[in-house]
Amino acid sequence: MRYARRDIFMFDLNAYLKEQRGIIDRALEETLQRIAQAGRLRDAMRHSLMAGGKRLRPVLCLAAAGAVGGDAGEAIAAACALEMIHTYSLIHDDLPAMDDDDLRRGKPTCHVAFDEATAILAGDALLTLAFEVLLEAGCSHPRRAAQWLRAGRVIARAAGCRGMVEGQMRDMAAEAHRLPLDDLRRMHALKTGALITASVESGAILGGGGPGQVDDLVRYARRIGLAFQVTDDILNVEGDPALMGKAVGTDEARHKSTYPALMGLEASREYARRLIDEALQSLAAFGDAAAPLAAIARYILERKR
Ligand code: IPE
Ligand code: IPE
Ligand code: MG
Ligand code: MG
Repeated sequence: MRYARRDIFMFDLNAYLKEQRGIIDRALEETLQRIAQAGRLRDAMRHSLMAGGKRLRPVLCLAAAGAVGGDAGEAIAAACALEMIHTYSLIHDDLPAMDDDDLRRGKPTCHVAFDEATAILAGDALLTLAFEVLLEAGCSHPRRAAQWLRAGRVIARAAGCRGMVEGQMRDMAAEAHRLPLDDLRRMHALKTGALITASVESGAILGGGGPGQVDDLVRYARRIGLAFQVTDDILNVEGDPALMGKAVGTDEARHKSTYPALMGLEASREYARRLIDEALQSLAAFGDAAAPLAAIARYILERKR
């Protein structure tokens, strides 16, 4: 999709998100129906996957493919894989052994709606399904297999022990400690930033982006990934649980190191604004094709959920 320059500031993000979320939701539902057997495990996977998340990571993946001039539709399998990995991480994050939360995406968490063992297995199954879907896409497009391999490696690296899982480990280890700000930043870069960055990077690769374009978009993604976490911390202090679909005030109750706790609310807001400004600068070379990515960056700052 091309956007005229005058349209960038009038870009209708709500309409764009509605359309993209529809595409993503249909693809996720179709994949579940096609691959997972009917039964309790699939019900638990669907309960969390289709519970109404913002779909930020898959939308970013498709928008990045579009920003480099590719056909966003070609990255849809990666978009689905990213949302499956994200959803598995939330199911496991909510377990009693981790954050022990009862509400997610406005619904009972997976272990509350089903049981703990089923929630663990639904998470395992979603994580594995993500890589099945990625490899399936590579096998069905032999001429683009190298791109799918690259994108798959980027996503695997971001999800595992060099990325999100290591971030979760550090998050658990840091409970009740006051982390220095640099350690907090590094932890968030792993816990949240890695998968957000991989979403943009894999989309840019699958859209056929050149190395300079991929580098620019990775720079954009690192900034919005960090800003996303800063706003998440702010919303945990002052957000509306009814809008967010999850509990607030939990970070303080668990004595977590967060941006508001370490720098104060106003300095955290200012920091997030600065990160988003820097992210927008990284989009300069893409012109109108990056209108969705620019609008998503602004949305991250203003989001209420
Ligand atoms: C929640 O992620 C967990 C964090 C990484 C902060 P999102 O805020 O993207 O959650 P959903 O997907 O919309 O439920
Ligand atoms: C969610 O992290 C899981 C991952 C980022 C992998 P948090 O525990 O910080 O976020 P919420 O508050 O449960 O959404
Ligand atoms: Mg957690
Ligand atoms: Mg949590």
